[in-house]
Amino acid sequence: MLDTSLYHAMLERRSIRHYDDTKPLTDEQIALAKASIANAQPLLPGETYRLELARAKEGWRIYGFCEATQLSHVNLGFVMQQIDLALHAKGLGRLWFGMGLAPKDIQAPAGMVYAMAMKIGCASIALARPLAGFDRKAIEEVTDAPTLHALLEPVRLAPSARNSQPWFFTLEGQTLHAWRARHRSTKKAHDPHEPD
Ligand SMILES: Cc1cc2nc3c(=O)[nH]c(=O)nc-3n(C[C@H](O)[C@H](O)[C@H](O)COP(=O)(O)O)c2cc1C
Repeated sequence: MLDTSLYHAMLERRSIRHYDDTKPLTDEQIALAKASIANAQPLLPGETYRLELARAKEGWRIYGFCEATQLSHVNLGFVMQQIDLALHAKGLGRLWFGMGLAPKDIQAPAGMVYAMAMKIGCASIALARPLAGFDRKAIEEVTDAPTLHALLEPVRLAPSARNSQPWFFTLEGQTLHAWRARHRSTKKAHDPHEPD
């Protein structure tokens, strides 16, 4: 069952890049992090993933492992974003950390690859911000279907790597299509349909 109390967190969370080094996580906060990991629900229950909470040089990180497929990464992202929201709601700072390297001392489980890390710790800045503080595209750049505006507001506000916000949604009858901007490095060379 998804935790609907996380909705409020979507409307105010932000990445935390400043932490209070004088306040290491307490045993209680570590237990909260473990509970958030345990309670997060998969989008695609058939996909396997593993989350490991471990110490890193600057504090604690959650390391995510999944199968080497696009859908498995989608599923892991869904799970880790729930953890981001849950830990925000519990007063902890968090930062998605795609630039982070695979942990040296934790082996990827069989059949899985290292995918993503999230830093967690005690924030030294405010955890929340007002809606006006979100640097995001307008909803018209997220969808061309006005009837989807309210539904897609959480998507509009969602975090993305380098704040790229690479998504777009269209409606075709009852079918909702989710589009993703193609990463430049995956564009085919000399594709006449793809402007540079
Ligand atoms: C998959 C992913 C990877 C990210 N990797 C990094 C990172 O390596 N370093 C960093 O400072 N921020 C990283 N971020 C945070 C984004 O820069 C941030 O979510 C975005 O700028 C929007 O800001 P907000 O989270 O405060 O809303 C990442 C976010 C996502 C979703």
